[in-house]
Amino acid sequence: MERPLTQHIPENGAALHLREYEAVGGYTALRKALRDMEPAQVGALVKDANLKGRGGAGFATGVKWSFVPMNVPGPKYLIANADEMEPGTFKDRWLLEGNPHQLLEGMIIAAYAIQATDAFVFLRWAYKDAAREMRRAIADAYTAGYLGKNILGSAFSLEMQLHTGVGRYMCGEETALLNSLEGKRATPRAKPPFPQVSGLFGKPTIVNNVETLSWISHIVNNGEAWFKSLSYTADGGTKIYGVSGRVNKPGAWELPMGITMRELLEEHAGGMRNGYRFRGALPGGASTDFLTDAHLDVKMDFAGVAAAGSRLGTGTMVVLDDHTCPVGFVHNLEHFFAQESCGFCTPCREGLPWTEKILWSLENGTGEPADLELLERHTKLLGPGNTFCALAPGAMEPLQSALKYFREDFEQHIKEKKCPYAHHQH
Ligand SMILES: Cc1cc2nc3c(=O)[nH]c(=O)nc-3n(C[C@H](O)[C@H](O)[C@H](O)COP(=O)(O)O)c2cc1C
Ligand code: SF4
Repeated sequence: MERPLTQHIPENGAALHLREYEAVGGYTALRKALRDMEPAQVGALVKDANLKGRGGAGFATGVKWSFVPMNVPGPKYLIANADEMEPGTFKDRWLLEGNPHQLLEGMIIAAYAIQATDAFVFLRWAYKDAAREMRRAIADAYTAGYLGKNILGSAFSLEMQLHTGVGRYMCGEETALLNSLEGKRATPRAKPPFPQVSGLFGKPTIVNNVETLSWISHIVNNGEAWFKSLSYTADGGTKIYGVSGRVNKPGAWELPMGITMRELLEEHAGGMRNGYRFRGALPGGASTDFLTDAHLDVKMDFAGVAAAGSRLGTGTMVVLDDHTCPVGFVHNLEHFFAQESCGFCTPCREGLPWTEKILWSLENGTGEPADLELLERHTKLLGPGNTFCALAPGAMEPLQSALKYFREDFEQHIKEKKCPYAHHQH
């Protein structure tokens, strides 16, 4: 089983530094792209490979790049989204800390494809080790001639900067990220215009996830057919999957795209801890709908998880067992989302704290029968199309699916006027 993204990451947790990266073929794809390929050919290759973005929405990367207007004068920008604040998600950190040059090489080639003049790594504030490794990698890449003026003697030049964020979940939303990078408050922007046309400082800008960009050098070196052959399903490549919660071996693994939930859970995460029973999982991070044991054979690719009623999201599963209160679990998540609301639009600013308050009252024995209907209404009022960005609809996904799959737990809280679970955490 090939693991292109992670196979060279040292086991001891250290980063693969420049000379080690070069020794395993690092920067050969950049040489190839600059020497043998026109920018449009790089874009066409990524489009043909059908690489889908790994940041959550799964939008085709080559298609996104093709929206950049190539005939306008002035700067263009490329940004690696390394904000990674989705609860349960810790996959990009592995790549940032373990193989920073793989990301840089992918970024330089992506920048060449769209003819960007400047590139930024927008890094989560709390990722101190990743910041140290990225800073070093950028400096080493400049010294080696992979960044700066006339890269490897070509006509292409690129400046690169590391930017550490302010520690808000919203900063990962791509248009809020642009505002943050411009020094403004991290509220989202109206779309259209899309960032590809009018992004950072009003100039064409591509924002891609770390895992997405880490693929580019491999696709340039090995081609689209190879990329597609890595996967079990129509979505190409491998995926960094994660599992957290009460399993025996929480962690992250690079596995073929389309592996089932059951294989992930039982073979890689070592099954449930303490003999507890699996009740459900958020398959793609905290802002996705629960799937249950009826879905264990669902293939974890974009289409498979969508057909089951959820989203692949970031591919990082959060597991709920039968000793954990689903109401408390969701309350905890809504607390996070309410805190992280940027306050820009009313449904989210008012609705998320209200949702959180209702869940709190259910957990603490003061919930009422009408509360469930109120929660249902919130899932609609804060759903897709009613708010300015995807934070609030994302926050509603675990709630709406918990109301569907674990309804008897909600009802029991109201009937018994307390949390029926022994270990509830308030
Ligand atoms: C509230 C919110 C937070 C987000 N956080 C991240 C993040 O930390 N990293 C990321 O890559 N995408 C994040 N996204 C998705 C980005 O807006 C964007 O779709 C993504 O960076 C595009 O990269 P991709 O095409 O490579 O997937 C977030 C979206 C929302 C609504
Ligand atoms: S949905 Fe929430 S986070 Fe998004 S713009 Fe509205 S208030 Fe801000």
